[in-house]
Amino acid sequence: MFVKLVIILVVLVVAAAEDLSFIYNGFESGENIWQDGPGGGVMVDGLFKITGHTFYAEPVTFKNDSSSSSEIFSFSTTFVFAIRSEDPTVSSGHGLAFVISPTLGRPGVLPSKYFGLFNGSNLGNMNNHVFAVELDTIKSTEFNDIDNNHIGIDINGLNSVKSATAGYYVKDGRYPRKLSLVSGNPMKVWVEYDGTRKQINVTLAPISVGKKPRIPLLSLKYDLSPVLNKIMYVGFSASTGSVNTFRYILGWSFRMNGQAQELVPSQLPKLPRIGDKKLSKLLTYGVPVMAVSLVLLTICLVVFIIRRKKCAELLEDWELEYGPQRFKYEELYKATKGFGKELLLGVGGFGEVYRGILPTSKIEIAVKRVSHKSGQGMKEFVAEIVSLGRLRHRNLVQLLGYCRRNGELLLVYDYMPNGSLEKYLYNQPKITLNWSQRFRVIKGVASGLFYLHEGWEQVVIHRDVKASNVLLDQELNGRLGDFGLARLCAHGTDPQATHVAGTLGYLAPEHARTGRVTMSTDVFAYGIFLLEVACGRRPIETQRPEEDIVLVDRVFSCWNRGNILEARDQNLGNDFVVEEVELVLKLALLCTRLQPAARPSMREVMQYLKGDIDLPDLSFLRPSLSGLAFAHDEGSDDVEMAYQCSYVPESTLLSGGR
Ligand SMILES: *[C@@H]1O[C@H](CO)[C@@H](O)[C@H](O)[C@H]1NC(C)=O
Ligand SMILES: *[C@@H]1O[C@H](CO)[C@@H](O)[C@H](O)[C@H]1NC(C)=O
Ligand SMILES: *[C@@H]1O[C@H](CO)[C@@H](O)[C@H](O)[C@H]1NC(C)=O
Repeated sequence: MFVKLVIILVVLVVAAAEDLSFIYNGFESGENIWQDGPGGGVMVDGLFKITGHTFYAEPVTFKNDSSSSSEIFSFSTTFVFAIRSEDPTVSSGHGLAFVISPTLGRPGVLPSKYFGLFNGSNLGNMNNHVFAVELDTIKSTEFNDIDNNHIGIDINGLNSVKSATAGYYVKDGRYPRKLSLVSGNPMKVWVEYDGTRKQINVTLAPISVGKKPRIPLLSLKYDLSPVLNKIMYVGFSASTGSVNTFRYILGWSFRMNGQAQELVPSQLPKLPRIGDKKLSKLLTYGVPVMAVSLVLLTICLVVFIIRRKKCAELLEDWELEYGPQRFKYEELYKATKGFGKELLLGVGGFGEVYRGILPTSKIEIAVKRVSHKSGQGMKEFVAEIVSLGRLRHRNLVQLLGYCRRNGELLLVYDYMPNGSLEKYLYNQPKITLNWSQRFRVIKGVASGLFYLHEGWEQVVIHRDVKASNVLLDQELNGRLGDFGLARLCAHGTDPQATHVAGTLGYLAPEHARTGRVTMSTDVFAYGIFLLEVACGRRPIETQRPEEDIVLVDRVFSCWNRGNILEARDQNLGNDFVVEEVELVLKLALLCTRLQPAARPSMREVMQYLKGDIDLPDLSFLRPSLSGLAFAHDEGSDDVEMAYQCSYVPESTLLSGGR
């Protein structure tokens, strides 16, 4: 009877040992938990921060006797973890591992490496008797890791026997859904061992998925009997190396010979809120920072209001129809960095020109600021500008649109990276163009001007053809700019002073006298332009000897002496085509004839340049009839007015026209 009782008692004890089971829905008590890591330990709010080793303090019996052939019991465990990086911009540091170890903790290992499980000399050693499931956030080539976000089954070392990218299977899914181990969100892990079938299953799921997914992420047939001893310890391990990353265990359940009890999510502790640590700092630093911010905010607001005011643009009903061609002042202000001096490209006949980049489209633009007094004529002028915007030709600078403010009209053009032709011609230019480049520009400008005269639904008189109005694009094509702008003066404020607009040296005599513009006045200016390009000088240079001041007179006298080539730009050297230079110079004389009717049309100019027709005999030319001399001598009053209108700086007046 007594013996029987003793036997029953022994069986009960054995059974109790086999069926060890525990559950921590949070670690409030910290009971039976052992840990060695620096900075570890039970936290106030019931979670474990893992650095070093955190183990169940009691030994766990895994088999009936100590022989290595003795079979391991089935066991299962489940836990909830979260890996959080304080500074998400730096790499996350290592993850953590669930471990079954022959010792409480891992004495003798390198705490800062290898999940705190091994040291350099025992990696992969059979005598370790270590089973682990790693949650690895680093891809170490040393251990043939598949990626930096995987789960692996490790036996005695870190070369996982099997591993998979973190994820979980949903019902009937063929591929697991991905999970990020370092997301900072709590996730649940199940580790199960079937002692009879010798099978290890590892399953992962976000905590929001209530039940364990039916298909495990990792399933491995592996007999753990030779690996594990009779008495083992279970727990978690992480290296102490990464300071920025925190690894938390929120709850843990374990059972020998059976299914571990499920954790109750509602009872699990909450993760500390990111930045909670800084709460106390708020009082020390927060208040002054807030005060300063408030001041800054006020300043910003004031600046904003002032800028708003500065940006206020004129918009009248009639302008609404121009929709896409109208730019917002703010947009242009931003594009040109507030019309910053560093972006000023130059001061042209009508005002300052700035370079800019449109904030949204990143298109490079040139913005011309023209001052105006809004009032009579503005409507017509803007209408004209907008209609000029529809002109499209490869030898015209494309007008993209406009914007109007009180006292200011902004015209937006395509940006021409190589700038004005003028700077390659006069005043000992740093870079000059060779003849073939010049000839191409000459033909290009002719084609652009021809398009203005005859290629469009209405005749457009340019009114201000000159080298400084020809811009060079990326491929050094000449493009005419500022077309139609001279009209702005005609629409200007002082009707007394503005009936002539144009530039001294390019004004056809009849234009200077009457103020009337025609296609022929453009042809005259084009002729002067030809001389500029071929001779590399301004049309009027007052510092020269009397007979040389007026370029066209000089070319005429060269021609008269039978050596027109003498007038060419000496910078050309010997690298030019004699026939072409001669053609250009003679054509220039033809274009600048006194009688408008005697000048060729742009269509004919094109034909001469292409060689489709030959130039007429020039023997009828007489020097006294050179148009420019006329303008220079007799049209001086009108010329003064032209300057008043087009704001040409005084210095350029002295050195001749611009
Ligand atoms: C361990 O011993 C008990 C009692 O003898 C037996 O019922 C059980 O099957 C054994 N377990 C294993 C895995 O050998
Ligand atoms: C490595 O760790 C084992 C225990 O896990 C220990 O016995 C051994 O001395 C350690 N080796 C070194 C070089 O630290
Ligand atoms: C492990 O997963 C397989 C399916 O992949 C399943 O058949 C087996 O029952 C699982 N074993 C355990 C112990 O959950």
